Amino acid sequence: MTDLRDKYRRVRTRSEEICATLKTEDYVVQPVADVSPPKWHLGHTTWFFETFVLKPVNGYKEFDPRYNYVFNSYYETVGVRVVRTNRGNLSRPSVADVYNYRRYIDAAMLSLLESTLSPEMTQLIILGLNHEQQHQELLAADIKYILGNNPLLPAFGEANITTPVVPDKNWIDMNCGLYEIGHQGYGFCFDNELGRHTVYLPAYRIATEPVTNREYVSFIQDGGYQKHQYWHAEGWDWVNNNKITAPMYWHAIDDEWWCYQSSGLQLLQPHDPVCHISFYEAAAYAAWKGMRLPTEFEWEAAASQFSWGQRWEWTNSAYLPYPGFKRAEGAVGEYNGKFMVNQMVLRGASEVTPQGHSRLTYRNFFHAPLRWQYTGIRLAEHI
Ligand code: AVJ
Ligand code: FE
Repeated sequence: MTDLRDKYRRVRTRSEEICATLKTEDYVVQPVADVSPPKWHLGHTTWFFETFVLKPVNGYKEFDPRYNYVFNSYYETVGVRVVRTNRGNLSRPSVADVYNYRRYIDAAMLSLLESTLSPEMTQLIILGLNHEQQHQELLAADIKYILGNNPLLPAFGEANITTPVVPDKNWIDMNCGLYEIGHQGYGFCFDNELGRHTVYLPAYRIATEPVTNREYVSFIQDGGYQKHQYWHAEGWDWVNNNKITAPMYWHAIDDEWWCYQSSGLQLLQPHDPVCHISFYEAAAYAAWKGMRLPTEFEWEAAASQFSWGQRWEWTNSAYLPYPGFKRAEGAVGEYNGKFMVNQMVLRGASEVTPQGHSRLTYRNFFHAPLRWQYTGIRLAEHI
């Protein structure tokens, strides 16, 4: 299990690297319900290994039985837990306690990884590592939210490495026909990427590039946020109730757009793909262009022909089970399946997705108004 041991070390270390520039106080706050305190992410990912891998091992001694209540996220099977909105009220366990918890679990895991493991155990550890990588992306977005909503707008890392989008958008024409959707092969995937099935797609056209900041500014300048005709009813209510006039983290200063990034407040880069927008904004932008968002199936069928991975791309697909989807037995069956209502699928990956954690068949999902993740837009249309 040397490979898995190395992988375990690398993934666990990475979570702590993401937090390296934080002050102790930054680890604790929860400015909105969707954002979890960094300390909680570090504890929860550790709890995942302890609960699902270590506790069933004979002779394993729990670090602290009270932590189950603190770090259980949503697993009804595993018992009661801190209400999500109260995660930011936990001054204890302290940040130091959480790092000690990590050291204790890492020692137990690394020694377990020296033994011969059952295929089931190996699968759970691989799930635990992919789970931690999902939380690394959430950590990156949550840290940005915590500091980007602090009046001092502190920097917390190097400048973002975003590749500018080529100025001329190209289009791919896709024939009508049958396409295979879903994960295939032996590598890891989440249960929501199974089972692979055939869909029929009418002919469509899809952009080779995501929408840029400059293009999105044109939408704003054209009064996009003031014209109801581009918006879903829910989106229009959301714009008005929350007085939304631009993507999250944008600041209008002296007639120029600035945006908050890991390196602090920066002039908006016109050729970067637009970021931090809701599904409502993505759909409204597409409507303003006289186009639409691709479905997740259209996205997957064409994705090998375009570049992706800087932004999670909102699709026009509701997050639903694929044909034959079954929730797994036990607690891990709660991982994805129970969230298949009222959320939209995002495809691709983002600049804060961990290396090696993206796939063409990967299905991310969020509620339509959320935009603190690195979300963007790709256009499609009927032909
Ligand atoms: C796939 C990102 C929507 O945020 O809850 C973390 C990832 N699942 N722990 C989420 C996840 C379990 C999930 N998203
Ligand atoms: Fe989780």
